Amino acid sequence: MKRDFLHVTDFTADEIHATFALAKEVKTRFKRREDFKPFKDHSMAMIFAKPSARTRISFETGFFRMGGHALYLGPSDISIGKREAVKDIARVVARYNDVIMARLFAHEHVLELAEYASVPVVNGLTDYNHPCQIMADMFTILEHRGHLEDLKVVYVGDGNNIVHSWLRMAQRLPFHFVCACPDDYDPDAQTIAATRQAGLSEIEISHDPKAAVKGADIVYTDVWASMGQKDEAETRKARFQGFQVNDELMAATGKKSLFMHCLPAERGVETTDSVLESDASIVFDEAENRMHAQNAILLKICGKA
Ligand code: CP
Ligand code: NVA
Repeated sequence: MKRDFLHVTDFTADEIHATFALAKEVKTRFKRREDFKPFKDHSMAMIFAKPSARTRISFETGFFRMGGHALYLGPSDISIGKREAVKDIARVVARYNDVIMARLFAHEHVLELAEYASVPVVNGLTDYNHPCQIMADMFTILEHRGHLEDLKVVYVGDGNNIVHSWLRMAQRLPFHFVCACPDDYDPDAQTIAATRQAGLSEIEISHDPKAAVKGADIVYTDVWASMGQKDEAETRKARFQGFQVNDELMAATGKKSLFMHCLPAERGVETTDSVLESDASIVFDEAENRMHAQNAILLKICGKA
């Protein structure tokens, strides 16, 4: 049976911990410039229906450094679901490549891609979730704190794809997760219910950012209008007033909290220059770790680790 990585919950807790350990090992090997080529003579197709900096660069560079070749297929190359059916592309691309990474709009499309492709498929973001991001984020938190005990992560902003992956992480590892968002921008109700049902983590949905951040180890934010919603940017800006992560909100934690953002950030909107450039900000460690965490995920699902 081939393995896909489409949701954080596709891995067990043990597999998530093992992925972090492997990411640490691969990161050290990369820093030492060791000869490490497990993907020699392998190719990875990267299908992008949306723009990307980090996802494209980290997957392409990571796979190349592990000995493989990565192909970038942009929005106009494949036009998945428009020029050709998802299930046809799945079978065609799998005939040429050892693994597929896809960033798509509809989550159903990545599920269909995985169903029909005979090779492993990795989700590089859909409208529903962004599992590689949250694997990298938790790995970054582990690096900075040295452990994941007594962890409170407070996400402030839109209840979007990033939040859904945080919630799924909370179904596997125990921590206290709070999503503070305007009440009409709550995350997906089914995902919240499934996370509560898992009974592992404390989950709160708050509409009061100041109260929510109290005692936070991590304050996390993301853009208020995601890819595919940019025409709603102005309406959202008005609705999200009070949800900006600025110095005042960081001070309201009452703690030496760390600041995280998946990036790209809209400076002056969901957060400020001052917070992004502060000592609390670990956004660039977070961005770097996308590559190390994903390398570990690829090694695991491709049966190389
Ligand atoms: N964080 C993230 O996925 O960035 P990109 O959209 O630039 O890939
Ligand atoms: N929520 C954002 C994340 C970008 C990495 C988006 O989907 O555009």
